[in-house]
Amino acid sequence: MTKRRLLITSGLPYANGAIHLGHMVETIQTDIFARAMRTMGHDAVYVCADDTHGTPIEISAAKRGISPEALIAEAWNSHVADFKGFNIEFAHYYTTHSEENKALAYEIFEAMQKAGLIRERVVRQLYSEPLKRFLPDRYVKGKCPKCGAEDQYGDVCEVCKSRYDAIELIDPHCVLDNSVPIVHESRHLFVSLSDLSEFLDSFASSSALDDEVRNFVKTWIKEGLQDWNISRDKPYFGFEIPGYPEKYFYVWMDAPIGYIATTKSWCEANGKSFDSYWHDENTEIWHFIGKDIIYFHTLFWPAMLKVAGFTLPHKIHAHGFLTVNGKKMSKSRGTFILASKYLEVLPAAYLRFYFAAKLSTGVDDIDLNIEDFYYRVRSGLIDNLANLHNRSFSFAETKLGGLLSSVHYDDACRELIAKTRSRIREAFDMYANLDTAGAIKSICEIGNAANLFYQEQAPWGYLKGESANVDKARAIVTACAEVVRMIAIALKPVVPDFSAKVFEQLGLGDQNLADLDKGLGDGNVIAHVEKTYIRPERAEFDALTIPEEKQEEKGVTEEAVKQTIPGEEKGGEDKVAEIVRTPLKPLIEFDDFEKLDIRVGKVIVCEKVKKSNKLLRLEVEIGHPDGPVQILSGLAKHYQPEALIGRNVLVITNLKPREMFGMMSNGMVLAASDELGLELPTVLLRAPGSQVK
Ligand code: 2FM
Ligand code: ZN
Repeated sequence: MTKRRLLITSGLPYANGAIHLGHMVETIQTDIFARAMRTMGHDAVYVCADDTHGTPIEISAAKRGISPEALIAEAWNSHVADFKGFNIEFAHYYTTHSEENKALAYEIFEAMQKAGLIRERVVRQLYSEPLKRFLPDRYVKGKCPKCGAEDQYGDVCEVCKSRYDAIELIDPHCVLDNSVPIVHESRHLFVSLSDLSEFLDSFASSSALDDEVRNFVKTWIKEGLQDWNISRDKPYFGFEIPGYPEKYFYVWMDAPIGYIATTKSWCEANGKSFDSYWHDENTEIWHFIGKDIIYFHTLFWPAMLKVAGFTLPHKIHAHGFLTVNGKKMSKSRGTFILASKYLEVLPAAYLRFYFAAKLSTGVDDIDLNIEDFYYRVRSGLIDNLANLHNRSFSFAETKLGGLLSSVHYDDACRELIAKTRSRIREAFDMYANLDTAGAIKSICEIGNAANLFYQEQAPWGYLKGESANVDKARAIVTACAEVVRMIAIALKPVVPDFSAKVFEQLGLGDQNLADLDKGLGDGNVIAHVEKTYIRPERAEFDALTIPEEKQEEKGVTEEAVKQTIPGEEKGGEDKVAEIVRTPLKPLIEFDDFEKLDIRVGKVIVCEKVKKSNKLLRLEVEIGHPDGPVQILSGLAKHYQPEALIGRNVLVITNLKPREMFGMMSNGMVLAASDELGLELPTVLLRAPGSQVK
């Protein structure tokens, strides 16, 4: 294996706001990639920092009567705590308000001056006389100059989508104090980006960009690159431009330079060579960013690096935005979820697992659907992977004294292990190509196969009676423990807490991909077994999206939310009584029960029924030679169709067919029901067609 050196970054969060789950998509994706690279044996360093400059910081600090320095220090502490809570492993989390960043910003600016790229131009801008400041576009509102819509910002009209200059706004007013701004002139510094078009075009053609991103960038280059204004007038919180008193670098100039400055600070503190990162083309610089900041990272940023002679990005990976329950995050819907709020409600590992299962290479938005989140965590992480660990490790400890041995492996054991090994190598290739979803899918399939193996081999059957054969039981359990060990290696990038517990209970040190083939056997002992995760309740997931104000209105404390189920805030005791009061049906004969043919079915197809808001049309494999059966089921309000595909359900297969909406329904899917809705029972390990008795 050729050992690669990677410097990995994610977008620097602004210091004027708290970390929310939108940020976490990016940091989790980046952290998974960085950890995967390290697990594969590469030298991968993940650095990040707070983005601390700009007008909003200066204004927020003034409003609170504190210095900008105090404000950004406060933000830094809270950001670092949130990222730590989510197990993000930064080599260094720094700030753009540093001496290193200032020196590097000056170095890059001087290089651009020397290259003749800096032009001075007078600009007419809106100015507030009472505040004695120029007003950025977002600090003025007025009527759209194109369509006349009221209350539009100074850059773009939300109604007709036209872009314009703030001085074109009709009847402008300042959003800070409602005063009427005037037009003032000011001299500004611009980078002539078009002088670098040829270089930027070749950079855009390189493998640093994915095709989707490349298309955006090529279009921008074709449309013609505009000069970039990199200066701002005082008052501003940032770095004063050398030779231009009272002028400051625009925040977007020094923000990405923060990537370099953070590396520098880390190198100095850890005796590393700075040049081997930023002056060495063999080092791979990987930037993970949101799709809204592609322009800055694919045009301005490579331009700065090129002119000043720094290593160019090896990869700029853009991801989509986060939606919650299919919609933009919103405070009033309670779906603008802060990282700190999430951590009060659920373990970080669940979100890391869920995002991992959804993230892939594209820029499509990713949805945190609470129902799907719960289901995937339950079925993938808890009932499959963590369950395999718990059942095999507990059995080894309590029934076999914890002692493992591979001596009596038969072909089935050997095949399970060999298949697992090769699939885990494939999963790492997927991580390396940012197909995290593919990696998780493979790992879950491995877990399913190993759970089935455990069930079918039934090691407990070899502990007593005539067929007692402890060696055989030990070999089966060792094979499963070996799969768990390999799964723990594969899950290290995603849920490192799971992996650490597994290695510890096996009495092993840290394990990496290089250890994959080592295997467990004689001499390995399982001890101090503890569950990796406690099975969560659905209510904990629902608590994520209870709007803060609703909790306060109802006098519900965060703690109470964690312990109740949704709906109980309305009067928990009454609801329980109501369920108990529902009369039981009259007794039936056993023969009546025997008439029901209830089986496990696997949902193959699931879609909404047109014109019905209740029904889903399912094709369910019930292990019958005639193939899957069509069932119409009233689940549409409770489950997304795609969340059911591939899922096992319980089906009454011999109900007489009924016609609904012009289609035949040939059975009934069983679900638990109360006023909270319907919930399908979880059946993971039985094959389609298995009977329910
Ligand atoms: O969009 C943002 O949140 C910026 N603070 C990202 C900066 S990334 C880098 F360039 F610093
Ligand atoms: Zn308009």
